[in-house]
Amino acid sequence: MKSHPRYACQQCGAVAPKWAGRCEACGAWNSMVEELPRAVPPKSLGSAGGRRGGHALDFVALRGDSAGPPRRLTGIAELDRVCGGGLVPGSTILVGGDPGIGKSTLLLQAAAALAAGGSDAAYITGEEAIDQVRLRAERLGVADTPVRLASAASVRDIIAALDDQRVPDLVVIDSIQTMYLDTLDSAPGTVSQVRGAAQELIGLAKRRGLIVVLVGHVTKEGLIAGPRVLEHMVDTVLYFEGERGHQFRILRAVKNRFGPTDEIGVFEMSDRGLVEVPNPSALFLADRSNSEAEPGEEGPGQIAGAAVFAGIEGTRPVLVEIQALVAPSLLGTPRRAVVGWDATRLAMITAVLDARCGLTVGANDIYLNIAGGLRIVEPAADLAVAAALVSALTETPVPADTVVFGEIGLSGRVRPVAHAEARLKEAAKLGFAEAWVPLRPPGRTAGRGARLARAGEGLTLVPIGHLSELVARLSPAPHGAPRRVPASASRRFATTP
Ligand code: TYD
Ligand code: MG
Repeated sequence: MKSHPRYACQQCGAVAPKWAGRCEACGAWNSMVEELPRAVPPKSLGSAGGRRGGHALDFVALRGDSAGPPRRLTGIAELDRVCGGGLVPGSTILVGGDPGIGKSTLLLQAAAALAAGGSDAAYITGEEAIDQVRLRAERLGVADTPVRLASAASVRDIIAALDDQRVPDLVVIDSIQTMYLDTLDSAPGTVSQVRGAAQELIGLAKRRGLIVVLVGHVTKEGLIAGPRVLEHMVDTVLYFEGERGHQFRILRAVKNRFGPTDEIGVFEMSDRGLVEVPNPSALFLADRSNSEAEPGEEGPGQIAGAAVFAGIEGTRPVLVEIQALVAPSLLGTPRRAVVGWDATRLAMITAVLDARCGLTVGANDIYLNIAGGLRIVEPAADLAVAAALVSALTETPVPADTVVFGEIGLSGRVRPVAHAEARLKEAAKLGFAEAWVPLRPPGRTAGRGARLARAGEGLTLVPIGHLSELVARLSPAPHGAPRRVPASASRRFATTP
């Protein structure tokens, strides 16, 4: 039988008989690549002949005495935590991230740490030359650890080398896009190659109980280049992210069959590789403390348009500064530039401020930034974002020793959020004096209020029930108050009577 070429979308995997500039299934442009299908299509297993040779399955009960998966600790605590408490033998981990973010550095450090701890770790590079990796190892100070290093791109060679008597405990494949399977005709990096190569390596991990770490590149759309399919095949997907200009790097679990997915690991890129940051709040607020004015005094360092958000990342509280700049727009459509937060959520908050509090925020250009390169996904940051926006608009600083959290509804009501106690505890620990928090709904358990008060030992809790209360707190004081409001601010700050 003659096999006709077919075209597979490199973004979503859809197949079409004809080439097209745009994938009909997912709408991606220029993503169709020719692939040669198997000459003989596999026979259906539905026929009696297809069933012959199959083995009977051993069905078992759900309850059994399997213990939790054994874990191998790398010794890099931030990495272990993101993986759910260590790496699980027999599992495959995909580590994605922009080029140059530090994936190779992190994994070489992890392999070295495991090797130093007595495990057998292998590092296979398809991207860099052996010398480059050696130089990096030298720089990281791990050149003397017994990591087995190889440069290879053929999955057949890799499987042949690893599937022998001496199976390592961990193998890092850097990167999956450079690997190829010689049984497939398409070029390395295409969907079918990446999928095929990953399939073989995942099979090896399961068969021999070793940990396989695949490095994957991310396209500018934020997908692991081409093969979204990979995310479904592996056990754990981690993203390594951060702003290029910042030293902070954040490792985030997106999928984890062996643990929670909302944990983050925080690292700092130094000249000797990635250093763990066990207390991220202190780091994210570091540049605040030098510029802070003395308490009670409005010094030059106390800038309008900033609010400290008491957030939760996974199980850990993280305090981070939210910065906003609001400027009159010169364009018909005001500019919005948002770093680290959701632009739609910002649009919602400006709309609520306009509609429920009588402000005119939405007509201005708005720049919103989460300091330190962190990306926040919690709606609990709503109130802090609103505080930064209103503060920027009215040019009234949020008191420097105040943290803010709460979710905002479309009515302008501020709703309670989860983990309030942990947030308050962290703020108190870092020396904050006041917390602007959601008003608890009346009639809710008194015990919870007492617990909150205890958690925020030393913090003054300021309940905010409606967004307009926040606006009132951040309004320039009326008639001849000591705080001078620049003319530009009063012009832009228009409240309806
Ligand atoms: P790398 O791990 O090669 O990134 P990836 O594998 O994700 O493409 O990291 C490269 C960047 O990290 C490079 O810009 C230099 C920087 N770096 C340091 O700042 N310190 C170091 O000790 C190392 C090894 C790299
Ligand atoms: Mg690399």
